[in-house]
Amino acid sequence: MQKRFFLRTLAAASVLAAAGTSAFAQQAPFKIGLILPMTGQQATTGRQIEAAAKLWMAQNGDTVAGRKVQLIVKDDTSLPDVTRRVAQELIVNDKVDVVAGFGITPSALAVAPIATQSKTPLVVMAAATSSITEASPYVVRTSFTLPQAAVAMGDWAPKNNIKTVVTLVTDYGPGIDAEKFFNDRFLFNGGKVLEKLRVPLRNPDFAPFLQKVRDLKPDALFVFVPSGAGAAVMKQFGERGMDKAGIRLIGTGDVTDDDQLNDMGDVALGVVTSHHYSTAHNSPANKKYVEAFMKANNKLRPNFMSVGGYDGMRVIYEALKKTGGKGGGDALLAAMKGQIFESPRGPVFIDAQTRDIVQNIYLRKVEKKDGQLWNVEFDVIKDVKDPGKTK
Ligand code: PHB
Repeated sequence: MQKRFFLRTLAAASVLAAAGTSAFAQQAPFKIGLILPMTGQQATTGRQIEAAAKLWMAQNGDTVAGRKVQLIVKDDTSLPDVTRRVAQELIVNDKVDVVAGFGITPSALAVAPIATQSKTPLVVMAAATSSITEASPYVVRTSFTLPQAAVAMGDWAPKNNIKTVVTLVTDYGPGIDAEKFFNDRFLFNGGKVLEKLRVPLRNPDFAPFLQKVRDLKPDALFVFVPSGAGAAVMKQFGERGMDKAGIRLIGTGDVTDDDQLNDMGDVALGVVTSHHYSTAHNSPANKKYVEAFMKANNKLRPNFMSVGGYDGMRVIYEALKKTGGKGGGDALLAAMKGQIFESPRGPVFIDAQTRDIVQNIYLRKVEKKDGQLWNVEFDVIKDVKDPGKTK
């Protein structure tokens, strides 16, 4: 008994001694400040990205190149003033090495100047207005851009008997991008836009807008609303009998968000959207991802926001690895540029020039399979760069 105890103590002591000599044992952990809307209107985005970041760490460990990684999750309630304050605290007090997350465009833009000033990489996992990457040279994006998604729909619609459209977008950065890039392409392809409608971001009431669309009787209504708002649009669309009146619903994939799709009901059937990720994406990497995510999160379906979070963690881990665990804002940033890997969404590339993601955009149709609704991909445009970049 005593001898065994002695041997065990000796073993423990030698492990401690070995740890003491390792280069990074004394070093502070590498800190990732993950700023997300965990409450409020965009809470589904926070829930999805936090779950994905935790899944990444569960699968890949919390030590990279000998350095311990610590994830600090903060709720910004999707109010940009709160995002700014939280980011400041994380950078100044907690001394985080990277800030990440950013559920909506105004949150990302609020922190961009702080990232520049403090030379802290800012990994945008959700927000999708084209111009965000131009707001600071420290921004790297793993989500998508609205121009990427919307242009594909501007090409698809006129080839599929949609000649007249009304657009309905949320009135801020990504909605204005979606409206502009869809319209330009749709017009170029011979389509006609009857009216452009914009709804407020906060507490939107879609009913009066949809009534107007019904009166205008376009072949289709093109919609962009941010993740989490799609179910409300779909419900109103159905209740007003717009589908029965022969008006088709098209949009970027935000409106048939996989986080909500299964509860939208049959009104969603046949809706065609363009986007970078579907839970139904048919690849071994995605099957593995969806299975692990659902298992770890009480059967919650991973949506496109989750994938931005999961891939963002990969980009940070790989960058830390390349710096041999040392980190440092400029070294991390350099190591994030040009990364190429297979995401659950398909092959992706972080463009070294723009720091924005290059990826496939898929056309998808909502179908019912085994009693559940899915965005089933039926076509792909490969390696799409953000068309919104001016340089
Ligand atoms: C954004 O605010 O940039 C944003 C949010 C949700 C989306 C897309 C874009 O689904």
